[in-house]
Amino acid sequence: MKKIEFSPKQVNGFVSDNDIKSLYPEAKKAFQSLKNGTSKGNDFLGWLRLPSEITDEFLSDIENTAKELSKRVNVIVVIGIGGSYLGARAVIEALSDSFSSYDNEGMKIIYAGHNIGEDYYHEMMNYLNNKEFGICVISKSGTTTEPAIAFRLLKEMLEQKVGKAEAGKRIVAITDEKKGALRTLALQEGYKTYVIPDNIGGRFSVLTPVGLLPIALAGFNIKKFIAGAAFMQNDCMNNEENIALEYASTRSALYAKGYIIELLANFNPKLHFITEWWKQLYGESEGKENKGIFPAGVDFTTDLHSMGQYIQQGPRMLMETVISVDKQKYEVKIPTDSANLDQLNFLAGKRIDEVNKMAELGTRIAHVDGGVPNMEIVLPELNEETIGQLIYFFELACGISGSMLGVNPFDQPGVEDYKNNMFALLNKPGYEEKSRKIKERVDNVK
Ligand code: PA5
Repeated sequence: MKKIEFSPKQVNGFVSDNDIKSLYPEAKKAFQSLKNGTSKGNDFLGWLRLPSEITDEFLSDIENTAKELSKRVNVIVVIGIGGSYLGARAVIEALSDSFSSYDNEGMKIIYAGHNIGEDYYHEMMNYLNNKEFGICVISKSGTTTEPAIAFRLLKEMLEQKVGKAEAGKRIVAITDEKKGALRTLALQEGYKTYVIPDNIGGRFSVLTPVGLLPIALAGFNIKKFIAGAAFMQNDCMNNEENIALEYASTRSALYAKGYIIELLANFNPKLHFITEWWKQLYGESEGKENKGIFPAGVDFTTDLHSMGQYIQQGPRMLMETVISVDKQKYEVKIPTDSANLDQLNFLAGKRIDEVNKMAELGTRIAHVDGGVPNMEIVLPELNEETIGQLIYFFELACGISGSMLGVNPFDQPGVEDYKNNMFALLNKPGYEEKSRKIKERVDNVK
């Protein structure tokens, strides 16, 4: 299997090799604490050995569910938020044809439950009105407001459209094994279900059915995807100084020198949602106890025409990690134009990717010159195996990096605050006292 690579070469001059290597003992200790289950949040370490533990039978069962569903429907609404949404979308968009979703061929995947936009739902239901659709509803707790609202709407719509019995065959629920409203409902209605293991938190769950069923529904090879993740697992577990540990140590060394924001940059529009997934993984895992690198993302070259100025010359607190894709799937060459009004004939005959690669190189050199330390992750190409490797690499590096920071990388207590305020403002039963208090503050906010 072609392996993804990590290079911290362009951080020299910002942190020394010694600065990075001096963190290795701490990083190794953090890695060891994950391996032997003594880290903070050690009841959420199920992701660590998951790729090698998944059986072929289990993957075949997911593939069969996807196959059966695709006989009934040609649109699937994947309902979920945060870790129950971003991983699946990241992998699907990285592997999909950028325009095939506009055709009628194959399965179209659309997403709900990740916002509370009224017009979004009106327009979605309008779109679904004349479609044969099914629902893959994902919620570990089974009680998260955004997906619960979306499921209520779309379940009712589907039942009215095709009847309760057929709707029941078009809905798959992915949730906790025993607890939560979604589990209760799935049992009542007899939906096909998959379990999100107790010991795997949302943002580490893309290699469970949370990611696997939507990815299989989108037509991608989940066996190769898991093989990629297992390859990286094996590589990291058997090498004490692996690339995840190197990445965790490098970003920690930079953080210690005041580089408190990390930009994950790509030069391939298909990777936009990989960045969104990564932002959640690192943001929710590390941002606590007033600590943590702020994870931000940019899509290049697009954002060089918006964020590029700030990156080049704004306050010097940015580090940048570029995901580079070595080989493109297709060749497109720039044509010659006899008039040459745009003066681009010097590019005639060159592949688009050659121009993109020079933009990438030029950007990295410019950013280093401008005071932004630069790391690079190279994917030989975009396919199920390399994306599987990338996912596991980032998960492991996050576990190590969060543990080095001294926080529990596997909880997210801060996420509750907005929910409590929202419930109080909406007069949820049980929130009476908080409702009274928060309403006194509303005038100052509005
Ligand atoms: O990473 C996490 O744990 C969160 O982002 C959750 O995935 C998110 O809040 C959705 O939770 P649930 O799956 O319980 O609906």
